[in-house]
This record gives sequence, C-alpha cells and structure tokens, in this order.
Amino acid sequence: MVVKVYKTAEEIGKAAAAMYAAQVIKKPDSVLGFATGSTPIPTYKSIIELYNEGVIDFSQVTTFNLDEYSGLDGTHDQSYRYFMMQNLFNHINVRKDAINIINGNSGDDEKACKEYEERINKAGGIDLQILGIGNNGHIAFNEPADYFPNETHTVKLTESTIEANKRFFNSADEVPKYALTMGIGSIMRARSIILIATGSAKAQAIYDSVKGNITPNCPASVLQLHNDVTFLVDEAAAAKL
Ligand code: PGA
Repeated sequence: MVVKVYKTAEEIGKAAAAMYAAQVIKKPDSVLGFATGSTPIPTYKSIIELYNEGVIDFSQVTTFNLDEYSGLDGTHDQSYRYFMMQNLFNHINVRKDAINIINGNSGDDEKACKEYEERINKAGGIDLQILGIGNNGHIAFNEPADYFPNETHTVKLTESTIEANKRFFNSADEVPKYALTMGIGSIMRARSIILIATGSAKAQAIYDSVKGNITPNCPASVLQLHNDVTFLVDEAAAAKL
C-alpha cells in the first residue's frame, strides 16, 4: 500500500487522472472502474482536461461503476448513472455501449447484481479502479459488517450513509434505503486500485484503513491485502496517520 499526501483536492485529482492516463496509454482497451461522490469530481475534471489535450483516448475502453441506488432510474438526477454522464462520460469519447453501471431499476435487483458480476468477469476484470471512502470506512456501498461480501450484491444503507448522502436530496426520507454494489471481492480483483479522500471527516476511516486491523468493521482495511493500491489523501484526511 502506498499513501501519498497532497495539499489540495485539485492535486489529488491531477494525480489520479495521471494514473488513468498511464493505464490507457499502456493498454488502450483497458477496463476502468469509476466511482461517484464528491471526492472524485476533481479527478474527473482532470481526466476531461487530459482528454481535451489529446493525452487520453477512451475509444477502446470499457467502464464499470461501483454501485447504484435501488429504485432510481438512470435518468433520475441523483442516480449514479446520471452523475457519471454529467461529470465524465458526456465529455470524453467513451463508447456509450461500453459504459456499465448496475441497473438499480430493473425490478429484480438480485438478477441485476448477478448479471453485473458476470459482465465484469466477461470483460476480463477491472484494470484500474478508483474508490472513495465513507466516514465509516465503507468502500462502494460495502458498509461495516461482520464479513466481507464477495460479489455484487444488494445492501441496506446504514443511517450514517443516509445521513452523509441526504445533502443531495430534499431530505433524508428521499434517500433510497437500498443500493446495489460491487462486493469486496469484486473490488479486490481489480488489478490496481486508487483510493482518494479529502477532509477531516475521513481522517479516522483513513487511519483505520491504513494502520488498523483488517476487519469488515472497516471495509477499506481489506485493501492492506491488495498488492497494488495507492491512497491519495489530503493533509486533513491524513491527520491521524
Ligand atoms: P464522498 O463519498 O466522495 O461524497 O465523500 C465517498 C463514499 O461515500 O464512498
């Protein structure tokens, strides 16, 4: 595990975007994993800049996203599909049919999860996956639990996550109560992983992930077992290290 500390969110975004550029230059038909949330936004801005400068060509890549809310259509402005289209995919030359986001509105979440995991495997696995981290140490929607879930599955969101995400909705009541998410195994099978975090609210989760015991009580702690993971964090998130 490599931990790099930066002064600003913009610097983290540039560093993460450079890792995507390196990956796609090395392997133009890379399978790229993306994440939603506030933290990756500067990364996506920098990726778009690199695309506009001709540094990255996404025409051959395949993408997978970590998770999606249950019960929201992809056109809902809080769905993760909508977020990805607005913040990244509409601005780069990724083929629309190469974008994979779990369908949270199929009416059969279990089937959607199973199909998604199969699609990741059929694509040959994920080459480079970016992760945010929850204040409680969650990665994707893998919340603290008493085991590490392996494959893509449905989850009931914790109060802490609903509380953290209500800022995007009119009220906590409107936040979906369930989500579909890649499992810890799905994430760990990615060949390279970047985890990004900014702000003091993430400091304990970063400490527990980097220095704590490996435990499903802090899902991100499992990353200590991965052989190619880079944490890009700001000083506030690194404060307890
Ligand atoms: P954030 O979410 O980037 O909006 O803080 C990260 C996460 O919950 O994984």
